[in-house]
Amino acid sequence: MLKRKVTVIGAGNVGATTAQRLAEKEMCDVVLVDIVEDMPQGKCLDLVEAGPVYGYDSIITGTNGYEETANSDVVVITSGIPRKPGMSRDDLLKTNAGIVKSVTENVVAKSPEAIIVIVSNPLDAMTYISYKVSKFPKQRVVGMAGTLDAARLAAFISMELNVSVENVHAFVLGGHGDSMVPSRRYTTVAGIPVKDLIKKERLDEIIQRTRDGGAEIVKLLKTGSAFYAPSASVVDMVESMIKDKKKILPCAALCQGEYGVDGLFVGVPVKLGLGGVEEIIEIKLDDEEADALKSSAAAVKELCDKIDNEFF
Ligand code: NAI
Ligand code: 2OP
Repeated sequence: MLKRKVTVIGAGNVGATTAQRLAEKEMCDVVLVDIVEDMPQGKCLDLVEAGPVYGYDSIITGTNGYEETANSDVVVITSGIPRKPGMSRDDLLKTNAGIVKSVTENVVAKSPEAIIVIVSNPLDAMTYISYKVSKFPKQRVVGMAGTLDAARLAAFISMELNVSVENVHAFVLGGHGDSMVPSRRYTTVAGIPVKDLIKKERLDEIIQRTRDGGAEIVKLLKTGSAFYAPSASVVDMVESMIKDKKKILPCAALCQGEYGVDGLFVGVPVKLGLGGVEEIIEIKLDDEEADALKSSAAAVKELCDKIDNEFF
């Protein structure tokens, strides 16, 4: 099989853990970029030295520049600042927009055919800015959030019912923010709708915990935000693309009429393959879900309008 190359920008918690997971799965060669001098080089040397123990031969390169990133198949952008306790994801807008803009310009110059996966927050708005700056086709810019939010919902349901996480298929739509839309109708356990297994009041609590999932970790960690589940979610997406698995995962994709959303990136179920976002899967929403998605898209639009005013 052709050897693939994945670049991860930002060698902090999410970026370095993503590089580690990619290497351990031996899916591709990995380039890790950060502005902090020597740090990505140090982390990558450490990962190379773990190779003999884990038995991976991936080439892992740490750098402060973009030369080594040339011709990447996928570029994951995690650069930016994370939340501190009490901050919302939206508080990160201004700082991270500048970072994502300049990083995207560098990425595009070296890897014009890459698929860009955005992780930096506020996620949906950062994906929008990278799409606009890159001028890539919409299939090649995608945001990671729904996969993480669905993983959180699945973890909470498996704990509640004391069943394997492998039995749970959780479904989350909308923006990666307080207005995200976990769907109780499309979340199943061994094919059984979850609402037939968990009482409404309890399910409401679990859904709220999912919405607050990022903040719960921020509060516990006190410095920084979640990175194990986020990096696992990124790797799930990258794997589906570079192995052309065509998995359906909830991701932030550019909607142009789908779900009644136009010109915005919001979380929707998409098919991920070698071409990136190969299809947005449209499912029928009930009135409550459709209204919740509309409000979530409105919250995303507010941030994108700010970006349009300041950056374009
Ligand atoms: P971190 O602070 O551990 O790492 C960020 C790294 O980006 C730092 O090492 C920093 O030096 C680097 N960086 C800053 N500017 C850069 C530039 N111009 N070029 C290259 N590197 C640069 O933060 P962490 O925990 O890794 O989170 C990264 C971002 O991902 C945050 O914005 C966070 O909110 C977001 N996030 C999003 C999730 C999602 O579901 N979409 C989940 C988890 C985190
Ligand atoms: C999370 O949900 C910070 O967006 C990140 O953990």
